[in-house]
Amino acid sequence: MSNSTLKTYYIITYGCQMNEHDSENLAGMLENNGWIPAENEEEAQLIIMNTCSVRENADNRFYGTLGQFKKRKTEDPDFILCVTGCMPQQEKVQREIREHFGWVDILFGTQTLREFPQLLEARLRTGKKQISILADNPVLPKEEGAKRMHKHKAFVNITYGCNNFCTYCIVPYTRGREKSRSLESVVQEVRELASEGVVEISLLGQNVNSFRDGEGNTFPDLLRALDGIPGIERIRFMTSNPKDLSEELIACFRDLSHLCRHIHLPVQSGSSRILKRMNRRYDRERYLDVVRRLREACPDIAITTDIIVGFPGETEEDFLETVSLVREVRYDAAFTFIYSPREGTPAATFPDQIPEDVKHDRLNRLNEAVNEGAYAHNKALEGLTLPVLVDGKSRRDDRFYQGRTDGFKLVNFKADRDYTGEIVPVHLTECKTFSLNGEVEA
Ligand code: SAH
Ligand code: SF4
Ligand code: F3S
Repeated sequence: MSNSTLKTYYIITYGCQMNEHDSENLAGMLENNGWIPAENEEEAQLIIMNTCSVRENADNRFYGTLGQFKKRKTEDPDFILCVTGCMPQQEKVQREIREHFGWVDILFGTQTLREFPQLLEARLRTGKKQISILADNPVLPKEEGAKRMHKHKAFVNITYGCNNFCTYCIVPYTRGREKSRSLESVVQEVRELASEGVVEISLLGQNVNSFRDGEGNTFPDLLRALDGIPGIERIRFMTSNPKDLSEELIACFRDLSHLCRHIHLPVQSGSSRILKRMNRRYDRERYLDVVRRLREACPDIAITTDIIVGFPGETEEDFLETVSLVREVRYDAAFTFIYSPREGTPAATFPDQIPEDVKHDRLNRLNEAVNEGAYAHNKALEGLTLPVLVDGKSRRDDRFYQGRTDGFKLVNFKADRDYTGEIVPVHLTECKTFSLNGEVEA
């Protein structure tokens, strides 16, 4: 049972890196106010559920977990449950929580994250429920105070929100309109991170390519400004929308010494007809052309992607075009998803929805094609020695450490000591579809 005099917290995070980083920010706010992390959910006096709503199974998991806390709330009046993230940004979910989960203490959204300390203070002082949700992003000139998961690598937000309105996607509705931070404030944050020992930064935005600050600086300008910061060995970014991937960005892969040779370039479908219905604003040819130009500028660049199968109206022919694109590009890895209708998005109302069994069958066939490519790329690395940034002990087996190559490949390896946070040469002895095995070279 919890001890009500101890201020302990636990954050449950679903969804993407934006949410992971928001959770780091929330942890920072709590610890500034004297809260300490609990060992586990059961011991925590306060729990935050940081939610995702990109696909339907995320919803189901959310309501399932939320329901489990009801008993805890009834038995322990001091226990505080907070819900944030992309779920409460939707009116339907706000209504659902009001009607069926009225015992939630603090409900706030992705755009009111910074209000959390005031909401918590008000809840503790008055004992009353607190709700604060906005429909659009406030501009955040500065970010500070995150409690970062790692000492050696950090997420850095560069844009918030999304303006693209792909017809299947809920994100523009949950994260509001796109806003860019200023180049100056991002550079300042990265300098501070470097002085604290961070060696790798991951720049975050739903579409980093459309970064443009008040001074007219573009994403390539930002990358160039970050490349010279002493101590920063690796720069990554995600995600990049193929529709506005510029020649200047491609040139960065050739010119910048710290930009990792990896790009996550979601294609979603290999059929131009489906891409049009998805409102992606590029077609198959343009996408393949971007890939060709990237590989011309940087021959060993690793390319990963996101793909959706079973989008409304997708015929077997459309699907086979996706498979043929996957074979042609030969991705290093791909996240593959079954189309999930999201209420409030245009595609959810399209009449020609695809039956579940067809979607599953396509997913299986697609994964086979993806895995063939991934295996071929990885197999070609066997016998090489590559620099690996060590993240820590392997989660599965603590006799091993794990880390990432420049191309974002997961490497499990044996080491004579703990090299966490360092970039070390690892000799790759066995390369599989999803990971590489190796040994540190002395
Ligand atoms: N901003 C990023 C994507 C964020 S969502 C981009 O544009 O690349 C991450 C991935 O989830 C998307 O790339 C897409 O493949 C998938 N996704 C989004 N909405 C979906 C839905 N309704 N059903 C299935 N997959 C979806
Ligand atoms: Fe969603 Fe499209 Fe925006 Fe990505 S670019 S977040 S897929 S609407
Ligand atoms: Fe999910 Fe919101 Fe990220 S819907 S994927 S947590 S932007």
